[in-house]
This record gives sequence, C-alpha cells and structure tokens, in this order.
Amino acid sequence: MLRRKPVGDLIADGDHGQLKRSLGLGQLTMLSIGATLGSGIFVVLGEAVPVAGPAVILSFVLAGITALFSALSYAELAGMIPLSGSSYSYAYATLGELVAWVCGWCLVLEYGVSVASVAVGWGQYLNELLRAAFGFTIPDALSQPPGSGGIVNVPAIAVVLLAMVLLLSGAKESARANAIMVVVKIGTLVLFCAIAFTAVQAKNFTPFLPLGLAGLSAGGAKLFFSYIGFDAASTAGEEAKNPQRDLPRAILLSLAIVTVLYCLVAVAAIGALPWQRFGDQQAALSHVLTTILDNQFWVALLAVGAIVAISSVVLTVLYGQTRILFAMSRDGLVPAALSTVDARTGTPRTNTLVVSGFVAVLAAFVPLGKLADATSIGTLFAFALVNIAVLVLRRRRPEQPRTFRVPFAPVTPVIGVGCCALLMFSLDTATWIVFGGWMLLGLVIYFAYSMRRSRLAGPR
Ligand code: ALA
Repeated sequence: MLRRKPVGDLIADGDHGQLKRSLGLGQLTMLSIGATLGSGIFVVLGEAVPVAGPAVILSFVLAGITALFSALSYAELAGMIPLSGSSYSYAYATLGELVAWVCGWCLVLEYGVSVASVAVGWGQYLNELLRAAFGFTIPDALSQPPGSGGIVNVPAIAVVLLAMVLLLSGAKESARANAIMVVVKIGTLVLFCAIAFTAVQAKNFTPFLPLGLAGLSAGGAKLFFSYIGFDAASTAGEEAKNPQRDLPRAILLSLAIVTVLYCLVAVAAIGALPWQRFGDQQAALSHVLTTILDNQFWVALLAVGAIVAISSVVLTVLYGQTRILFAMSRDGLVPAALSTVDARTGTPRTNTLVVSGFVAVLAAFVPLGKLADATSIGTLFAFALVNIAVLVLRRRRPEQPRTFRVPFAPVTPVIGVGCCALLMFSLDTATWIVFGGWMLLGLVIYFAYSMRRSRLAGPR
C-alpha cells in the first residue's frame, strides 16, 4: 500500500510511451482553457448567485485563489513528472500506491463525473437556442434526467458521443478542433460582457453581502467547479512536444485568462440584473440577456457560443479522463486493455470507448447539480494531495530538476491545502455522503483487484 514508484521510473515510462508527441504551448493552453471554461460560468453561476448575492463576484475571486495555490503546485509537478496520469502519478511518486489510487479515484470524479455534468449543461443551452431561434424546445422527457422531470437526457448523450468520435481520430485533431472552440467561447463571453455592461446599474451591487460571509464562501465552493480543468494540460504530459517547459506555463496561463474572464462576466451579469432575479434559472447568462434585451438574436448567439464552449469542455475533459486511466492501467491498477494504443491514430481506443460509454450513461440519467458538487469535492481532495506532494518531493528529492518552482514554499502549498479543506467543508452533507460512498467503493476495488495487479507487486 505504501510502495512508491521512483520518480526516475515514472519519467522513463513517459519517455518510452506509445502516445504521439504533437502538442505545443498554444495547444496545451487551449486544452486547459477548453477544459475549464464551460458549464461553470454559463450554468452554475445561476446557482451561486442566490447563495451569495452580488458578493458572487468575490466568490469567484475566492474560488480563483484556491485554484491558484493548487495551480502553482500543479505547475511544479507537471514540469518535473510530465506524465499522462497528472496528480495520480505525482501521488504515486510521493505518497504511496494507496494514496495514488485514492487520488486517481478522485480524478474520476474530477474528470469522468464532471464531464457528465457538463454534458447536462450542454442540453440546457441547446434548448435555449431552439427556443430563441425556432420557438420550441426538446420535451423534458428527452432532455432531462429522471428526478428533474425527464426520462433520459438525449442531448447529453449526443455531445459525449460526438467528443468520442473526435478523440478516436487523434490527439492532434482533437486539439485543433478544441482551439477553434476556445476562440469561439472566449469571443462569446466578451460579447456578453459588452452587451451586459450597457445595462449595468450601480444599485444592483448594494447591499453587496446580503447573505453574509457564509454566503460568499458557499458561493465560492459552488463556483470552484468553474475553475476545474486548468490542470487538464497536465494529462497531456506524454503528448506534449516539450512538456517540462510548456506544461507549467500552460497551466498558469490558462488560469490567469479564465479568472479575468470570470470576474468580468460576474460584474457584468450582477450589474445588469438584480441578484434576486436570477432565481432558479438554469441558463443564467441567457436569462440576463433575455431580460435586458428585446432582440432574441443575441440570446440565440449566446446560446450557440455556450454550446460550443461546453462541447470543448466535454472533449478535453473526456480526453483527460482517458489519459489518467491510461497511466493507471500502465501501472497495473486498472485492466491492461485501457493502455493499449491504436497504431494508426496513436490514441487509446478501447479506453476511449469505455470511458465515453460510462460518461454517456451517467449524463443521461443524473441531474447536473448533484454531479457538479460531487465533482468539486473529489477535485478539491485531489488538489490537496498535489500540494502535499510538492512538500514531500521538496524534502525527498531536492536535487530533481524543476522547470518551475512554487514561490514561497512551503508556505504556499500549505495554504493551498488549507483553501481546499475550507471549500470542502463548505459543501453540504449530502455531497460528503456521496463522496464517502465513492471512496468506499474505490477502496474495495483497490483491495480486491488493484493491489494485487499492480506492476510494483512483481511479475504475476
Ligand atoms: N470547469 C468546467 C466547467 O465549468 C468543469 O464546465
């Protein structure tokens, strides 16, 4: 349980890996922005405003700061151990196999489960578009999961399958498609800000903290979801052309771009519409535009942008999940079929099919809010482990070359752990119960299967 994989062995695995190295700094940054900017700002913002009031702007800052501390730690480790497994691999090198497994299991929440929740948000904007452009929507029975008034979420399944097809065609092809989508989504948010700023009224910002500091931090915990994904570049360690140099840069650059955009959008949205009027709207930004404009054209355009935005999250996060499982499979912790690579496309084919199938089923039948909170708690736990891994490696492997160093270590990673803990404790009991159940299932699988199958357990 405590066996560790030496850093040198990990790096050698990556160097002799079968995946093709085709991604440069631009594409890696786009990969991280692609994975980050999506349902959080387009949908979850609408759930956070009633919790925090206008202070939701600061909730974004709070969640962004939490993300920043962990992003610094990610940058150090991604430059040092540039593998597809991301934090799972860092934990394997530092905290032992059991913790690495737990981390990988949390990453399934961060990637596999989040992609399902993101796909659910996609369906909501598709309906917005259909309503604004054609005056009809897909009936709830076919666009909502059970529990939210529907039977099956067909649009969510469709977007997952589309992403799967693209991923099967190759990492380079997927990265190219993603880059175009990222440009569109940034353009959409800038357009939203430009329109909403024309309707901003100072009175909408007062009182700024109607629900107190507790509201602010609860909003931060909800919105943390919108930052998840900045670490996606770290799952491309074995497909990056120059991972040591580019991964840390891509992670930090993407986080900076995303944070600025989020804060601008929050100021514009709150300034344009009194916070009480966000209600239970699912497509929050559309709701703002519908209220301040008579012209449905812009609403439809925003919906197109949101659909593209969320598609790229689905694509890149699905990509990340396949690569993490790829690394875990190479280490023997999950079945070997998940690390076979198709010779022609250089992609893990079986892995992509299995992951997409799992995500499609989840997206079809589970409501967004529940999935989003489960994602956040799992991610926060994994991020806390990354901060701890930095501390451990600084002590144990001070001589190992690092292309980026967390400034003011050990203070910064310690604050990083604290921020993650704070947001985890701001999530509700139901989310903790789901998390506990998930962990228990993970431990059963580890002891029943992975521990014995691990490559470090010796020849089978
Ligand atoms: N950060 C991603 C999103 O907001 C998960 O869609």
